[in-house]
Order: sequence, then structure tokens, then C-alpha cells
Amino acid sequence: MTQAQVSDSPYAAGEHTVQKELAKLLGPSGILTGDEISHAFTQDWAKDRTGRCMAVIRPATAQDVSQVCRLCAEAGVAIVPQGGHTGLVAGAQHDDTDCIILSTQRLNRICDVDTDNLSCTVEAGVVLETLQATLKEQGQQFGVAIGSQGSAQIGGLISTNAGGVRVLRHGMMGAHVMGLEMVLADGSIVSSISGLHKDNRGPDPLRLAIGGEGAFGIITKACLRISPQWQSAATAYVGCASFGDALAMLRHLRGTAHEVLSAFEVMSAACLPLAKFVDPTLVPPLDAPVHVLVQLGSALDLPLDDMLENALSAALEQGIAADAVVAKSDRQVQRLWALREGLVEGHSRRGYHVRSDVSLRLGQLPDAVSALETMLAAEFPDWIAQSYGHMGDGNLHFNALPLETMVETQAREIGKQIEQRIFDIILERGGSFSAEHGIGRTKAGWFHETMPARHNLLSRIKGAFDPDTMMNPGCLLVREDAKL
Ligand code: LAC
Ligand code: ZN
Repeated sequence: MTQAQVSDSPYAAGEHTVQKELAKLLGPSGILTGDEISHAFTQDWAKDRTGRCMAVIRPATAQDVSQVCRLCAEAGVAIVPQGGHTGLVAGAQHDDTDCIILSTQRLNRICDVDTDNLSCTVEAGVVLETLQATLKEQGQQFGVAIGSQGSAQIGGLISTNAGGVRVLRHGMMGAHVMGLEMVLADGSIVSSISGLHKDNRGPDPLRLAIGGEGAFGIITKACLRISPQWQSAATAYVGCASFGDALAMLRHLRGTAHEVLSAFEVMSAACLPLAKFVDPTLVPPLDAPVHVLVQLGSALDLPLDDMLENALSAALEQGIAADAVVAKSDRQVQRLWALREGLVEGHSRRGYHVRSDVSLRLGQLPDAVSALETMLAAEFPDWIAQSYGHMGDGNLHFNALPLETMVETQAREIGKQIEQRIFDIILERGGSFSAEHGIGRTKAGWFHETMPARHNLLSRIKGAFDPDTMMNPGCLLVREDAKL
């Protein structure tokens, strides 16, 4: 094997002594090395980048995690926590093999569901869909819903403060966290889980782990707010002439159905053909420049279909909506959501593309979409604009697809310029370059550059949790500052 081949490998050559110690501690099923490490651990869902590591560690208890942290601290080996690996900013991938990936997949117990207290306590590796299914059996539900919920784990969702399609109703992941259990870099286990809705014994420092991307320690358990399962729901697919009309439609629904409005997703018509990469039979039920997916839901048994139909009739009369379809069966509901989820997977299957995750005040979204689309058409005519997102909470994903004939290396070079232009257009309007995907490794530079005071304060606080920068180095905070 040549030197070049060795350095290209995502795994460490030879065996580090810490690997033997970890194997002794966790047993053979607790550690994966070399070819035992599947691509799922080194490549994220979008397959954008390949991370590297010396081993994947799979602890089954918080005590295991604590021992792993102690051993790694002694050996000077960094820890990169990883949940379902569905994040999109390289937060669970390191660039070098001088780290272990700590997978939370075996920390997968649902410890309790307390229907009187409206809370549940779960380990970090519980998959969101599994939690939702368990809660449903007990007449309960969890307020976060995202496309990757079949793989995404609770610890990762908290670490990235995930958003998804119900933020307009229930808030982001952090809004559901009542308490956390965490293992710090020195192996200490700290908990703020009391199960109490009101607990003002000072600020909870563990809440820094919400959106902390594993840089402050490893979340091992969480106590989460739950709510009664919906008794009624209604879903509609609406065609609008523009993003401005889609905003007017949202305003209209705020006036007629605010308390039950649970999702308001927008997609420009150009996005929809991408869903066919996943399933060629996925065809939108109407033609319009902008497509909107609306969902109402209630824990009460309300006539939501009627409410939605009345609201849509008024919107059609007023000319806010051009066309609308109300789903009449669960299968139709699934097919409409499959279009929304399919387009995202279609982007990924098509190959390299520019992805963004920006947020703005809701009223500025139409103007921002038009500025972004105009910029792409004028400055990068070989790219196809894809504007979609969670209009109900001001979160836009403006993506750009290179023409299929473009060579990938060239597309990646141009892609960086497009990312910079998106960043400029959003910042000019007071928006954020990270709405719900986090900072990870891909946006740490931007974070440092645009918010140095906040970045450096966070670095100093990290020092109290992780003085030797063993926890996910290079993620969230740029490395030099992380060592302050
Ligand atoms: C979505 C992911 C990409 O909205 O955030 O589907
Ligand atoms: Zn999203």
C-alpha cells in the first residue's frame, strides 16, 4: 500500500493503545475499527463529506460513556458524538483520525412516559419515530416532526436544536427539553432532570448543550415535554401565484385557524420534479408557481376539514390562492408529504448541490426569495434555483443545482461563490445563515467571523466544561478560539 493510500483512509492505521482499553471496557460489540466501520458512521446522510476516526465506540450506559471520556482524556483522544448522522453541517464528522466517534445508538431506552406530568424521559439514542410510536400508544405525541425522523436520535436533535415542520406551533427541539443528563469531558455525569415543569433553582447550565453540537459534553438522557395526541387533523395542498401570495395565505390562516395551524410549508414549482428521483409517480395535484402544504391539528375532535375548506374558499375568492386540494384520506396526506420529503432526497440523489438553511422575519421571505432567485439567474445562469422551506417560521432552504453536464470539481468551486452570495443577501436583510441545521464544521468560520463576541464568550464557557478541547473539536467553535 502506498503512503497516499494510507493517508486517504478514513480510519487510523495501526492500533492506538486507547483502542485496547476501550475494547476491554465495552466488549467486542462496543467498539468498531477498520473495515467494521460502515460508511454510515463516516459519511453523513447527504454524502457530502467523509469524516475520519480511529474507532467507533458504542456505549450502552451513561457509566460507559463516563469511562470512555476518562480513558480518552488520559490518552488525549478527542470524542465526536454521533446520533443518527442525519445532520447537514458535518457536526458529527472529524477531519482527522485522531478521534473516536461515540455513537449513541445503544443508549436507546425509553425510561418513562408520564401522562399526568406530560413528560417522558428517554436516552439519547432513541430514534424520534420510535418515540412518536411509543407515545401514540399512550394517547400522547411529541411536538417535533422532521423528514429524517426514521433515523434522527433524540441526543442529536437536542444537540442541533432541530426544527422541522411544526416549529410554528410547538417551537424547536430546545422548547421541549425539561432537563438533561450529560457526561462532561472529565467523565463526570451531571443531571438537571427533575421532571418538574417549574424549577427555578438558578439557570440550568446543561441547556448549553441545546444547539451545543456536542462541544460541551455528551447528552446521555433527556426529559421532554409531550402533549395529548391529535384527535382531528386536516391537510391541504394549495397553489399560489407567488411567495408574496403564500405569505398572504399564511396571514389569512392566522386569522381563521391560528391555534390549530401546525405546518405551513412552501415549495417553488421548480423543486417538485426532484421528488420523482425518489418515486416517479410523485406528481403534484396542481400546477402553480408556488406550492403550499398546510396542516391543521387538534387534541380536540374538531371539524378541521370544514374549517380548512372554508378558509381555502375565502382565499380562492380573494385571489390569494389560485387552486387548492384538501386531502380526503390518510393515503392522500402521505402522498402530499411524500412530495415535500421527496424533493429533499431528490436533491441528494441528483448529486452535489448548494444547500442553505437561512431564516428571516416572515414578512421578508418573499423579497429574499426573489433577490436570491434573481442573483442566481443573473450571476450563475448554469444553476437551477430551488426555493422551499418552512414559511410558517421564516426558515428558507434556498438550494442551487448545477446543470447535470457540469464537472463536480468545477461545481464545488462555483458552489462556494454561490454560498457566499446567499450569505450576503440574507445578512443584508438581518437574517441568519443557520436556522435549524446548526453550525457544525461547515459554518464555524462564518460564526466566528460574523459574531466574534458571542463566539468567544461561548469558547470561554466551553473551557469550563471541556478545558482540553476533547469534545467535538472544530465543531461549532473554530479550533484556535476553542483553546482560549
Ligand atoms: C428540510 C430539511 C432539509 O426542511 O431541513 O427538509
Ligand atoms: Zn428544513
